[in-house]
Amino acid sequence: MDRLIHPVEATQTDFLPINGTDYVEFYVGNAKQAAHYYQTALGFQMEAYRGPETGHRESVTYVLRQDKIRFLFTTALDPDHFVAKHAHLHGDGVRDVAFWVDDATYSFAATVERGAIPVHEPITFQDEFGTVVTSAIRTYGDTIHTFVERNHYTGPFMPGFVAYQNPHFAPTSIGLKYVDHVVCNLELGEMNTYAQFYANVLGFRQLVSFDDKDISTEYTALMSKVMSNGNERIKLPINEPAEGLKKSQIEEYLIFYKGAGVQHIALATDNIIETVTAMRSRGISFLQVPEAYYDEVLDRVGQIDEDITPLRELGILVDRDDEGYLLQIFTKPVEDRPTVFYEIIQRKGARSFGKGNFKALFEAIEREQSLRGNL
Ligand code: FE2
Repeated sequence: MDRLIHPVEATQTDFLPINGTDYVEFYVGNAKQAAHYYQTALGFQMEAYRGPETGHRESVTYVLRQDKIRFLFTTALDPDHFVAKHAHLHGDGVRDVAFWVDDATYSFAATVERGAIPVHEPITFQDEFGTVVTSAIRTYGDTIHTFVERNHYTGPFMPGFVAYQNPHFAPTSIGLKYVDHVVCNLELGEMNTYAQFYANVLGFRQLVSFDDKDISTEYTALMSKVMSNGNERIKLPINEPAEGLKKSQIEEYLIFYKGAGVQHIALATDNIIETVTAMRSRGISFLQVPEAYYDEVLDRVGQIDEDITPLRELGILVDRDDEGYLLQIFTKPVEDRPTVFYEIIQRKGARSFGKGNFKALFEAIEREQSLRGNL
């Protein structure tokens, strides 16, 4: 069951203030086409670009934006470049979950002093729009956290990038607002290691913990802890596989991603029915729970504002906690390897993660795993 941890005492100071997620960067095989997919299918707008035309000869990066969500897609132009090697090993995947901070120099020093492994020391980038300072530390697998200090910058993304828009192509937003949480899959035995890493090195606290009794089906099981920074703008559920009768969805991910990495990114919307309707019409496929889910859902969660008919039609799930309820739905993996997927979430008071849907959801995932021959 949920073991909710009480909020930190007011006397405890948050030694690592984080304003929110600055960006999520994907290393991909073909950034131009990935950027097009995220514009057409998920309603992102092109914001900035860096590549050979701007004097950067090793790689290209497209910066996409939807409200507070910023995604970067980067591809190397040489097979020996580390971005190319990352994409070769992992497939298209998340390299960097970057945090927006007021002081990237301090954030680096404070976390490295507490045991973080450095990726790069603070670097100051400057142009006519001001300065951006970044530093970075390692986390699970080949994933990193970059600290981005951009409070004195007014240009597009950061120095080295140019504002970039195709005047003939303006995809409309689908109402995605911000990154709600970013979930990783870890190797067996790593969950507590990284829970301690986020607690001791970044000053996060554990919001909630799920064990294999909460998250298990006939075949598979997993364990999860949700780590959060002081203001809860960064929420990172960390999963590891648990003993089950067959290969868990976490193990399938680890096999195809070749190690630990980001499993899903939850994106928040204020109107999940409109958002999911738009995504579906633009070609995104979602996991489907059985019809029977809707026969009992209102008995379980009680009164909700939404009409059940469109929820049932779209396959949107509902769960309730002490503070309210939430609506959520999960896409199928958005690439050919069964790795990264998205959650669309609308919170109506609830601060939890949809525990009441775990069983129906994991059975839906298993049906997909079975189709892939991986169960
Ligand atoms: Fe989630």
